[in-house]
Amino acid sequence: MHNQMQFPRRALVMLLTGLLASTSAAAAPNKTWITVGDAAFAHLQQAAPQLIARESKLLRTNDAGAKVTATERVHLVEVDEAQLATLSEAVHKELKRCGGFMFHASEAEGRRALSKQAPLAAAMLSRPSYVIDNQAVVPGVLAQMQASNITTTINDLASFTNRYYTTTGGTDASNWLRAKWAGMATGRSDISVTQFTHSGYNQKSVIATITGTDNAAEVVVLGGHLDSVGSGSGETMRAPGADDDASGIASMTEAFRAMIASGYKPRRTIKFIGYAAEEVGLRGSAAIAQNFKSNNVNVVGAIQLDMTNYKGSPADIWIYTDYTDSLQNDFLAKLVAAYQPGVTVGYSKCGYACSDHASWYNQGYPASFPFETLDGDDNPYIHTANDTYANSGSQAAHALKFAQLAAAYAIELGSDGPAAADRVENFSGSLTLGQTKSFGPFKVASGGSLRADTTGTGDTDLYVRKSAVPTTSTYTCKSDGSTSTETCTVNMTANGDVYVLLKGYRASTYNLKVSYKPQ
Ligand code: BES
Ligand code: ZN
Repeated sequence: MHNQMQFPRRALVMLLTGLLASTSAAAAPNKTWITVGDAAFAHLQQAAPQLIARESKLLRTNDAGAKVTATERVHLVEVDEAQLATLSEAVHKELKRCGGFMFHASEAEGRRALSKQAPLAAAMLSRPSYVIDNQAVVPGVLAQMQASNITTTINDLASFTNRYYTTTGGTDASNWLRAKWAGMATGRSDISVTQFTHSGYNQKSVIATITGTDNAAEVVVLGGHLDSVGSGSGETMRAPGADDDASGIASMTEAFRAMIASGYKPRRTIKFIGYAAEEVGLRGSAAIAQNFKSNNVNVVGAIQLDMTNYKGSPADIWIYTDYTDSLQNDFLAKLVAAYQPGVTVGYSKCGYACSDHASWYNQGYPASFPFETLDGDDNPYIHTANDTYANSGSQAAHALKFAQLAAAYAIELGSDGPAAADRVENFSGSLTLGQTKSFGPFKVASGGSLRADTTGTGDTDLYVRKSAVPTTSTYTCKSDGSTSTETCTVNMTANGDVYVLLKGYRASTYNLKVSYKPQ
């Protein structure tokens, strides 16, 4: 079950190098970081029960010849260098057999290494709850958003002669956006801005990533396309693309700015993406969505902002129903109702894969496309030299509605779900064959949830029940796979007590993590 591929033997050398370096240094209690698999983590916890995982990630391990796809977690563990030295015996003896480990000089480096591990496929994880429960945060962020900032970004992007995917303007616009977003994120070590290089053309997509605090493996994507098109393809072709799609990039950028200004830190990872080469067949987004899919990146939702500033229909925000996810579309409508008084919603269709949301949809990810008008009422100047800010009415009030929806979406999904717990309790121990052990009651608030996760050796089964201690036949949720890696979530519609029961299906060691929103 342990995955040697994830943790090459070379890692042992890296750890021992780290150990030697640390033991020869002064005896200050410096922190150091290692990533380990479930089994190694269990061994470490036996030797040092106070160890906790700062971040854990569920992986799928494909053992050749195995009949089932098993799962394993990888944990980022903070240890004192001195502590690590005393653990080195156990580390040396045990970890080699348990799939290995990696040494990291800093927490950030450890998190980066962990983020490179492929997580469990999206389909195997639960949907976001779509419960709207960040009323304490969203209105304040929306209130500070300004149309004038959107105007500035639209005009800056429209001032490139064109942003066609093969021209210098197209390359420069990508670099400009990278620099703009990076500048906005100054001082935030949890935000990185990178470019995604595409094969076959120079224009790069731009990705700003806010790494989630406690559920970083789940990713929320907001996108728009940074390229433009006019008539022709040459360097001097005029294609301001003010509405298509400087407006979408500008709406996203204002949401990003306001989220940073408010100090908001998401629990999930949020990515703002300016796609390259949309106008030539969704090429940039197709490459990125394929890349995420093949790396099993767990994108829990994606929205596309493409044309947000031309007000051509009576209703304000038009939710397109084709190549999109109906549950997430319903969530968008609920967000507008909750946070945007006076803003009206309509429904329409493109009839074909008309923008980058379709790239996510095609890879099986939940995607949505809130658009400026009913199909057919949209901006008549797009794809010409006349797609200017003036021809969107020299205003950005319309695009501001989309920026506010984008921010509400990012914050609500960014902090939704079981990881949005306020309290985490960890337990560990061992179970003999057939032995049960109960935990709780955990007092969980209405609207909150309790999530229990176990890892360990052997085969521990997990039962969770509302109001009473579970038995192996009476429970609200059970998770009884063939390893000790189990997970259960219980959602609460009223304040109540939740109990957890573990059973050793075989002799086992366990680490139980209970995350919940207290009453
Ligand atoms: N922003 C448009 C899509 C659009 C235009 C949607 C008008 C709804 C109304 C996008 O940039 C675009 O031009 N898409 C192409 C298709 C794409 C696959 C090249 C299109 O619609 O022709
Ligand atoms: Zn477009």
